[in-house]
Amino acid sequence: MSESKPALSARPDLSTNCGGIQSPNPFWLASAPPANSGLQVQRAFEAGWGGAVWKTLGQPIQNVSSRFGATKVRGVAGVGFNNIELITDRSLDINFREITETKRLFPNHAVVVSLMVETKEEWKELIQRSIDTGADGIELNFGCPHGMCERGMGSAVGQEPRVNQEITSWAVEFSTIPVLVKLTPNVSDILPHGHAAKSGGAHGVTLINTIKSIIGIDIDRFAIEPRVGNLSTNGGYCGAAVKPIALHMVGALARDSTFGLPISGIGGISNWRDAVEFLLLGSSSLQVCTEVMLRGYGVVDDMIEGLEEYMRKHGFTKLDDMIGRAVPSFSEWGNLDLNYETVAKIDADKCIGCQLCVVACHDGAHQCIHPSTDTKTRVPVVDESECVGCNLCQIVCPVADCISMVEVANGFASATWNQHVDEGNALRPKKGAH
Ligand SMILES: Cc1cc2nc3c(=O)[nH]c(=O)nc-3n(C[C@H](O)[C@H](O)[C@H](O)COP(=O)(O)O)c2cc1C
Ligand code: SF4
Ligand code: SF4
Repeated sequence: MSESKPALSARPDLSTNCGGIQSPNPFWLASAPPANSGLQVQRAFEAGWGGAVWKTLGQPIQNVSSRFGATKVRGVAGVGFNNIELITDRSLDINFREITETKRLFPNHAVVVSLMVETKEEWKELIQRSIDTGADGIELNFGCPHGMCERGMGSAVGQEPRVNQEITSWAVEFSTIPVLVKLTPNVSDILPHGHAAKSGGAHGVTLINTIKSIIGIDIDRFAIEPRVGNLSTNGGYCGAAVKPIALHMVGALARDSTFGLPISGIGGISNWRDAVEFLLLGSSSLQVCTEVMLRGYGVVDDMIEGLEEYMRKHGFTKLDDMIGRAVPSFSEWGNLDLNYETVAKIDADKCIGCQLCVVACHDGAHQCIHPSTDTKTRVPVVDESECVGCNLCQIVCPVADCISMVEVANGFASATWNQHVDEGNALRPKKGAH
């Protein structure tokens, strides 16, 4: 009797629908240099990308030279990336022709036109021209934090909910295809800005655009980078370093029960794990810019393979099974259990005796990992009675799974700060407080 294959080995369905925009997988190029031309987007689709948001179109601009900068952290370049580039510097006619051609060649891929213009008439004209290309959707760029905002566009719109809502409502009025609003992270609270887009009738939101920043200083020329002659300006920060900020903002909208619009998540997605995190926090499509700029379209292979493998491992057959699964795990600090405790445990078989955990705990935590007296193994010893479970040693340990944070069954019932304030519950003295 032939045995049927176990269900988990079947290929999970990666197709997605973000605000009415369908794509064969959730991986889209973000509006940026990798989505600047027809030949690029077509090559990206051949490489496996499920969609692309075209480099923002608007009235003709000129770009400066130079225009990019990057942070180097312990020798690794591009952990954070910065640019002072504006929207497309190619003509509208050429762009619209190439979008039409790309959509004709790849009818099942998501092609989204990003737009940024000033007047209602211009919005009407460019939206109609975008629809005429056969594109699947429009993204309103309310996020660019340099150059365009000084002309009253980009983040200047994204920071003003009233203006955001009004322009969104124009776009929705003029458009017969879905409208996504791309939000700026250069605000203290993302909620009013997401709600403004919703009130304007948007079908979904995209976030984040880049973060206003100065990437660094040329310390011999005494000049800010990237340098245009002897001057520079603030740019937009992105890449792996911004992922925590992007997740924070995506999560804030995803858990707001009065919001409910689909989210296209962006910001520092560099591998399949990042992709999974954005999906678990409520994104239904994922956009990538910096990782493609640094390493090319081929990075999508690892993203697709890793996502599929992860879905198989957890028994997810389609993306909807996992989108938003981590959203309920967020709570305000006051609801966290003050009696929940963990301690660090070192796996002596894996430890290489480097002592990095000893240094970190002694100088940056609670002085409770001690050098071993055994000079042969050099495996440090954790004083569990003093360990506050802060994770620092696990973070610095260079060996995978060598230090585990293990839950302590301390016998105390859950107690939160909010219960203490509301009901006057006593708080017990904790380790590390002496
Ligand atoms: C060089 C460069 C140019 C960009 N141009 C645009 C643009 O024209 N329109 C837009 O909406 N976002 C633009 N972005 C922002 C990206 O689409 C994206 O929101 C941001 O880079 C965060 O994603 P990442 O961390 O994957 O790079 C640009 C980013 C970079 C680095
Ligand atoms: S978890 Fe924190 S306190 Fe405990 S041993 Fe590690 S660094 Fe020290
Ligand atoms: S950092 Fe990790 S490998 Fe190094 S001594 Fe500590 S436990 Fe061992």
